[in-house]
Amino acid sequence: MSILDDPGLFGRQWAAVYDRPGNPDPAGAVDFLAGLAGNGPVLELAIGSGRVALPLSERGIAVEGIEASPEMADLLLAKPGGDRIPVIIGDMADVEAGGTYPLVYLVFNTLFNLTTPGRQEDCFENVSRVLAPGGRFVIEAFVPDEENFDRDEREVRVWDVTEESVSVRLHKYDRAAQTFLRQTLIFTNGGVELQPFGMRYQWPEQIDAMAAAAGLTLEARYADWDRSPFTPDSPSHISVYRKP
Ligand SMILES: C[S@@+](CC[C@H](N)C(=O)[O-])C[C@H]1O[C@@H](n2cnc3c(N)ncnc32)[C@H](O)[C@@H]1O
Repeated sequence: MSILDDPGLFGRQWAAVYDRPGNPDPAGAVDFLAGLAGNGPVLELAIGSGRVALPLSERGIAVEGIEASPEMADLLLAKPGGDRIPVIIGDMADVEAGGTYPLVYLVFNTLFNLTTPGRQEDCFENVSRVLAPGGRFVIEAFVPDEENFDRDEREVRVWDVTEESVSVRLHKYDRAAQTFLRQTLIFTNGGVELQPFGMRYQWPEQIDAMAAAAGLTLEARYADWDRSPFTPDSPSHISVYRKP
């Protein structure tokens, strides 16, 4: 097994810096999800440090989470109100949650963190199992853009420049497998650190097919949390799947 298939890798690499400024403002997501939460409880897959879950819970909605990384779950627990959110440490593809939910959600492209073939499909099957009849599964993901890849299927992005460090991200794509290996190189006066990471990316229609195989139908697709119309040029999507 590649280290990229290890669900704990993200947290080991990023927990120490995850809550630094720079992640998306969760306000739009929280409004959107609160409108679908019914009487709750709702379940966030890969809940992380509670960027979305905490403000949702502050609205009086019971939120539960699944998270592979104890380091990330500890960040959530240490925040005010974090102790109101039960988190199961486990792999989101297994959805080992006890309840039945009107809403399950998986945001910030994290479906693509499941790189092992079959695991995204497992995730949809298991979400379908824990959804209440009429319940919804909301996904936020980027739309892959192969124009970004160069002739050798590589892509380079300057990620961050500060007075202390420079971070550069290099991607190597495998079009057939729809995966990429990403190395984040962090240059400081102390040296260079390499942080490997992988994703298995899917186009919206492929996600729809996984959902359909799990008995979920696409109810709506938007370009953003404000419900802007999704178009062929949209770089990302919010998709709402519904259990009959
Ligand atoms: C980009 S962060 C998103 C965290 C949070 N949902 C947010 O929006 O801020 C990705 C999260 O997914 C978690 N993760 C990655 N693979 C996972 C898996 N197979 N099962 C559960 N959590 C996983 C990571 O530990 C990390 O907390």
